[in-house]
Amino acid sequence: MERLLKEIEKEAIGRIAEAKQGSELETLKKTYLGRKGKISRILKDIGKLSPDQRAAVGLMANEVKQNITRLFRLKSLPLKKESSLKLKQRMDISLPGILPDIGHLHPLTRVIDEIAGIFRGLGFRLVEGPEIETEYYNFQALNMPINHPSRETFHTFYTSDNFLLRSQTSTVQIRVMQKEQPPIAIIAPGKVFRPDATDASHSFVFHQVEGLLVDEDVTFSDLKGTLFTFCRQMFGPETKMRFRPHYFPFTEPSVEVDISCIICGGKGCRVCSQKGWLEILGAGMVDPAVFEAVEYNPEEFTGFAFGMGIERIAMLKYGIDDIRMFFENDMRFLEQF
Ligand code: DAH
Repeated sequence: MERLLKEIEKEAIGRIAEAKQGSELETLKKTYLGRKGKISRILKDIGKLSPDQRAAVGLMANEVKQNITRLFRLKSLPLKKESSLKLKQRMDISLPGILPDIGHLHPLTRVIDEIAGIFRGLGFRLVEGPEIETEYYNFQALNMPINHPSRETFHTFYTSDNFLLRSQTSTVQIRVMQKEQPPIAIIAPGKVFRPDATDASHSFVFHQVEGLLVDEDVTFSDLKGTLFTFCRQMFGPETKMRFRPHYFPFTEPSVEVDISCIICGGKGCRVCSQKGWLEILGAGMVDPAVFEAVEYNPEEFTGFAFGMGIERIAMLKYGIDDIRMFFENDMRFLEQF
């Protein structure tokens, strides 16, 4: 038995030295050290020996096992290194890595930022107001009397008596003027709410940017110059602008402002309904009744205000024909910005 063990050890040493691959080494390991391997098979008959012999053979078998195990360990280290080197050679480490998805700003946020940036450049400060408002800020203070049609429940979301979701950002004009004295130059972007049935051009929630400038001797030409500068920066230097007389309770005189169609340049197309003009905002000179509501002296101060719908501007700028796209969170749409 002892001789057999020695022979097995010799044989194993030789074959381990010759092995060239990790897999070969694994097979050899099984052949010699496995449960049904050569050494185990010899030790099966160990019970037939005398106790003395048994101890000697057992000791020797252990030694042989340890020797072979050590050889396996020594041999497998360089083989492992070699195989990981081969893997590296097969890998093209000059290829770009896989980037995780990185989010970006929503198209509406980008348009708001752009508008705010232009007005900031003109000296306007950005402020915000509450989305849940009182009737007073949404209507009375803005010179909209108790019987004004937009106060009807089907034109406005009421949360409880006197409280409602603001239907316009003009509310922020009042909040600012109550707290501060002129000169004031602010813009106020934010959400507004109207119980409209949703379709391609209506949404019960949308965004507006309000503007207000109050000082001594502010004139209508200041309003015109400010809006003209804005339109050219926002829609391009070729943009033309026109004012149409309109009515808003909180401004007098009031206008609606059109720009020359940014798609056809004014010739007439599907987007501008062949008119050549696109309506983009409402504006006017602050009505003296609004000044009285905030206890400003209309003899001392004048001012202008304007309000525009962000979705409409974003739709024109990016050629989007359905307002619902902004609120559906469809990645196929959002990824395009
Ligand atoms: N608040 C108006 C609306 O929601 C928009 C508007 C028009 C705002 C004229 C103004 C303004 O400040 O002067 O339709």
